[in-house]
Amino acid sequence: MTFPPTVLCRTFSFVFHQTSTIELLQLQNHSYIKRKESEMSTIPNFKLNTGAEIPAIGFGTWRSTEQEAYNAVIAALKAGYKHIDTAAVYGNEEIVGKAIRDSGISRNELFITTKLWSTDHQRAEQALRESLKKLGVEYVDLYLMHWPVTMNGDGNDALFPTREDGSRDLIDPSKWSYLDTYLSMEKLLETKLTKAIGISNFSLDKVQVILDKANVVPAALQIELHPFLPQQELVDFCQSKGILVEAYSPLGSAGAPLLQTAQLQEIAAKYNTTPAAICISWSVWRKVVPLPKSVTPERIAANLKIVELSDEDGKAISNLHKSLGIKRFVSPEWGIKIFD
Ligand SMILES: NC(=O)c1ccc[n+]([C@@H]2O[C@H](COP(=O)([O-])OP(=O)(O)OC[C@H]3O[C@@H](n4cnc5c(N)ncnc54)[C@H](OP(=O)(O)O)[C@@H]3O)[C@@H](O)[C@H]2O)c1
Repeated sequence: MTFPPTVLCRTFSFVFHQTSTIELLQLQNHSYIKRKESEMSTIPNFKLNTGAEIPAIGFGTWRSTEQEAYNAVIAALKAGYKHIDTAAVYGNEEIVGKAIRDSGISRNELFITTKLWSTDHQRAEQALRESLKKLGVEYVDLYLMHWPVTMNGDGNDALFPTREDGSRDLIDPSKWSYLDTYLSMEKLLETKLTKAIGISNFSLDKVQVILDKANVVPAALQIELHPFLPQQELVDFCQSKGILVEAYSPLGSAGAPLLQTAQLQEIAAKYNTTPAAICISWSVWRKVVPLPKSVTPERIAANLKIVELSDEDGKAISNLHKSLGIKRFVSPEWGIKIFD
């Protein structure tokens, strides 16, 4: 396999990966398939504050069953994704790792993110080592604190412990807070088990606490972001501090409800593309990394075919929520306030 040369993209002024004409993918059964250039898309790169490059579109893997996740990751790598987003709590690190290995693509050509689950906040290194073992890799490129909430790691359930009254078994923040978790994640950088650390589901106030009290500026913040939840103030704030922002649920999560929006359909028609590609292009237009998930090979490939939005259309999409309303699709019951 040849390594892709990088060329500077004129319009976005970030780096494009140029894929070779034909690449070979080694599959599970050790047979090889040919991958034609016409089947793959080029994905621009952004830069993290560590100096590392991150592909501007990542592939989401939440809520995929084991077999779905395997086939989806194989399809994604074949289509040209180089950036995979998973998490310990998704329960698919093992199968995602297997798909990555079976793809035959070199580890150093890929950007892999996984996340520290809330019951593991007080044992971050152990949790990261377990994730690496499941993924079958020596390091991840980005390790995120999944939620700014610490749950009892010795409770009645490994992932979602509850108290006798049925409420979430949370650790009192005066005893252990998300800041303590972040400070313990900073030490992971010395182990080289992760190249960068970051946070997820943090509000602006909480990002500010990290910036005030921690030693390492987070490389990334992963939050729910789409035209119905643009969170412009938080995005601007992070970008001004050198924190790369990632958009989860860029299509509105399960069932992609955003794609029924007439205004997005109109803009898609204008660019001769799909509303999904418009949502994904809008993220990249605002220098945010979208993480679209799909288990459908045609959609997986189509979601990479981003278009260059005009500033006028980008701003129109950013303003859609003013007439259509704000919508948040991912809001687990933690029993405490997470979002502003
Ligand atoms: N940090 C966090 O707390 C957090 C929270 C949520 C998500 N995430 C990450 O972000 C990723 C994406 O978010 P998400 O999974 O919530 O939702 P999403 O990517 O916004 O949407 C996924 C849904 O869109 C459908 N879809 C995808 N492409 C489509 C297309 N071109 N046309 C029509 N439908 C399409 C998928 O269907 P099919 O699969 O059936 O094709 C699936 O139902 C996750 O997988 C995960 O990696 C992180």
